[in-house]
Amino acid sequence: MCGIVGYTGPRQVSRILVEGLKRLEYRGYDSAGIAVQKDVAQAGEPITLIKKTGKIAELRKAVPKDLPGHCGIGHTRWATHGVVNDVNAHPHLDGSGKIAIVHNGIIENYVALKEMLEKEGTVFRSDTDSEVIAHLISYHYDGDLELAVKASLKHLKGTYGIACIHADEPGRIVGARNGSPLVIGVGDGEMLLASDVTAMLAHTKRVVYLNDGEVVSMLPHEFKVSDGDDRVLDPKIDHVAWELGAIEKEGYSCYMEKEIFEQPDSIARALSGRMDFEYGSSKLGGLDLTKKELHAIERVRVIAAGTSWHAGLVGCQLMESVARLPATAELASELRYRNPVVEPNSVYFAVSQSGETADTLYAMREIQRRGSTVLGICNVVGSTIARESAGGVYVHSGPEIAVASTKAFTSQLAAFYLLALLFARMHDMSHHEGVEFLGRLKDVPDLVRGALAQRDTIQAIAKKYSHAKDFLFLGRGLLYPIALEGALKLKEISYVHAEGYASGEIKHGPIALVSPDTPSLFLVPNDYLREKTISNMKEIKARGGPVIAVADEGDELVASIADDYIPVPRTHALFQPFTMVPPLQLFAYFIALELGRDVDQPRNLAKSVTVE
Ligand code: F6R
Repeated sequence: MCGIVGYTGPRQVSRILVEGLKRLEYRGYDSAGIAVQKDVAQAGEPITLIKKTGKIAELRKAVPKDLPGHCGIGHTRWATHGVVNDVNAHPHLDGSGKIAIVHNGIIENYVALKEMLEKEGTVFRSDTDSEVIAHLISYHYDGDLELAVKASLKHLKGTYGIACIHADEPGRIVGARNGSPLVIGVGDGEMLLASDVTAMLAHTKRVVYLNDGEVVSMLPHEFKVSDGDDRVLDPKIDHVAWELGAIEKEGYSCYMEKEIFEQPDSIARALSGRMDFEYGSSKLGGLDLTKKELHAIERVRVIAAGTSWHAGLVGCQLMESVARLPATAELASELRYRNPVVEPNSVYFAVSQSGETADTLYAMREIQRRGSTVLGICNVVGSTIARESAGGVYVHSGPEIAVASTKAFTSQLAAFYLLALLFARMHDMSHHEGVEFLGRLKDVPDLVRGALAQRDTIQAIAKKYSHAKDFLFLGRGLLYPIALEGALKLKEISYVHAEGYASGEIKHGPIALVSPDTPSLFLVPNDYLREKTISNMKEIKARGGPVIAVADEGDELVASIADDYIPVPRTHALFQPFTMVPPLQLFAYFIALELGRDVDQPRNLAKSVTVE
């Protein structure tokens, strides 16, 4: 949600900033801008500021190819305060034009600060909360940018990741973090500062993750991190494992398509080294819990948002049916303000692809405050949720760039299957059953590959129904959360209205929506719920509603009832979420393509929602 990049070093900064912003565009894409410091010889002159509404391509056109300068900051925006226009785009300057800042997050007390500064004669140019930071730093500036930033932070309430430069301090970037991620990239004679490692992967893999309350001051050859009490820290330099290729499209037309088709590999990575056939169990050392602590767990709670919540809903059903542990998945944004009862012997899992979702992070802190253990199921290594949890499982999907989450979802599912097995083997499941479970789990990457092979069939069906204005997605049991996920995918990337429902519930209301113009997409389980689902399909058909069915290959009965049938590889009912979700991802993708939508960067959305 908004992206920051900063660079100081020997190279032409404008190119590095624009290229870095392009990598961060998935975090926000309504406007973007850069601020470049003039070189040493011209120190004291105002900063070059270029801002443009729209995508990074617009900014790229506006930045002269030979723009001089070796130190600067850039930003891609997802608007919170103030409409989308050039003026509200970041960076923001102070009155003298010498200080430039970029900001992620929300300054909650900006109105009071603005009034105070206006009384001092400050003139504001934009409607943003962020601009107040530039003027506040200017107010405190007395020849030392780092000190001025630290003095200003004392007055800010809210969340921020900030980067700023001053025209009189060549080569210096000062950054600060509170609730919005900021990472230092340590290069060879050059330094970077960004909200996300993807912006710096082309330049360095050596990074330092800032913690809340920390401030960094950097020059090309050095950086200093200090905490809120002004103590200089000795931060650890981490190595990023992601390869540059992982953030390229690699021949695909868009990131979402690439990430959908990467799933056999990303799921295999999530499982790799964690399936213990000898003991018929799973090895999840990252949980960092002793056998005794694991045995003491009596109930599982999941906190998450959006797609990660859907993975949690599947996970909780598995915990109950496989491990016989009571489990519920809660929307993080609801839990935080609900005064939740935290029962003893519960373990909470915070599930988040980005590891930065504000709702999930704050809910997790609320639970920790009440004394319960929170474990993370995250994709992004070093993310805030991963670092603040007591332990957890990294899902190793690799970078997910498309705003709509796909491969992270199936890897989160893989993590839950491993967890359910771990708990089950500590309770009722036999060694033999554990080995059988693992045998099926091991086949999942191939099953997903088989489901993805239906690409052409799905594309043809998507084309046929692309005129529809409303869809129903229906599933039961483990496939109910998959129906929710299918509906969410369609909504977010095609802007077509879709409702996910439990198939058994349609007769309690939603069946009133059924008409020849409202297709129903059924996920057909292959266990005792199959016949009930078929009855539900017939109820829709009897009312003239078109039916699309995703079902096991060779299911002649379903094929004869449905108007359109997407066959997927046959597996045990417990593993059907893996075969059912890829067709739904592709269905949403092809409808969005038919409608000419921007698949990777759908309107109004941003990846990594770091505001509440
Ligand atoms: C949907 C989607 C969102 C995220 C949600 C949580 O495709 O991407 O619903 O799942 O914002 O994000 P994370 O998993 O990063 O916490």
